[in-house]
Amino acid sequence: ANTLGAAAAGSGRYFGTAVAAGRLGDSTYATILDREFNMITPENEMKWDTVEPSRGNFNFGPGDQIVNHATANGQRMRGHTLVWHSQLPGWVSSIGDANTLRSVMNNHITQEMTHYKGKIYAWDVVNEAFADGGSGQHRSSVFQNVLGNGFIEEAFRTARSVDSSAKLCYNDYSIENWTDAKTQGVYNMVKDFKSRGVPIDCVGFQSHFGSGGAPAGFRTTLSNFAALGVDVQLTELDLAQASPTAYAGAVQACLDVARCTGITVWGIRDSDSWRTGENPLLFDNYGNPKAAYGSVLTALNNA
Ligand code: G3I
Repeated sequence: ANTLGAAAAGSGRYFGTAVAAGRLGDSTYATILDREFNMITPENEMKWDTVEPSRGNFNFGPGDQIVNHATANGQRMRGHTLVWHSQLPGWVSSIGDANTLRSVMNNHITQEMTHYKGKIYAWDVVNEAFADGGSGQHRSSVFQNVLGNGFIEEAFRTARSVDSSAKLCYNDYSIENWTDAKTQGVYNMVKDFKSRGVPIDCVGFQSHFGSGGAPAGFRTTLSNFAALGVDVQLTELDLAQASPTAYAGAVQACLDVARCTGITVWGIRDSDSWRTGENPLLFDNYGNPKAAYGSVLTALNNA
């Protein structure tokens, strides 16, 4: 196959990208998007600050723009993200009462998932809830500090009750290296959820890598999580300077694991990336495929 999406489909996987609604009118961007990618994650448009900027006032316009594009072009959607400490409006982060915050969180999940019901393949229900460094514990956030450890479980249970067909994922960064405390913390949470019947279907490994690419143990991490009974995905892949070997290596880690069901890169052209000056994507500023595009396509075709 000669596109990323078609090549990934050859082994039953998808190949996706983050999309910014504001760029859909750029014809170079839209042409590459529709030629190469069959899964879309909104880069910012489904985050809390956009969707519910003040309590009970919902703004689905930017997200709808992306969903409409995906529908018209046969692409599936990953919803990103329902509960996250960042891009969270001040009116939420200043809530100090647990009953209020619980009902605000559950209402946000309910309204957003209801609006997009039937249109989202998988939701990042909770994003980046674990701390960096050696603790292996949840990070400090209004949700953690006011609701306690149970907020993640509560978010997943609410999500399942709203939409029983969407896949429910936990998504995080720096959980690619198996021996890291953060990886172990997330692994233990998923193991606990599976053992107690808390609804979780998938784990997203963001995969924001430096120039050396994925850590050596990445495949081990993916297969150990998959063995718990969840699908795994690379959800925000980008790699400083986009070495073709390092890119193909990161993709290969997924291809080596049966339950790694897809790969999403965090943008199309280098000029679309949040990592200014790092050239971490598969297309250059003009929309030409880079060397890493070729190595990734080959890896997908060989899977
Ligand atoms: O929309 C406003 C615009 O009105 C304003 O004029 C402009 C001035 O700064 O800011 C615009 O908002 C920016 C937004 O992107 C949309 O472009 C924010 O400042 C900026 O902080 C925001 O950055 C996003 C970042 O998440 C926020 O945390 C990036 O685009 C987005 O790529 C990035 O994505 C995250 C994932 O969601 C989660 N994992 C990490 C990943 C990379 O940080």
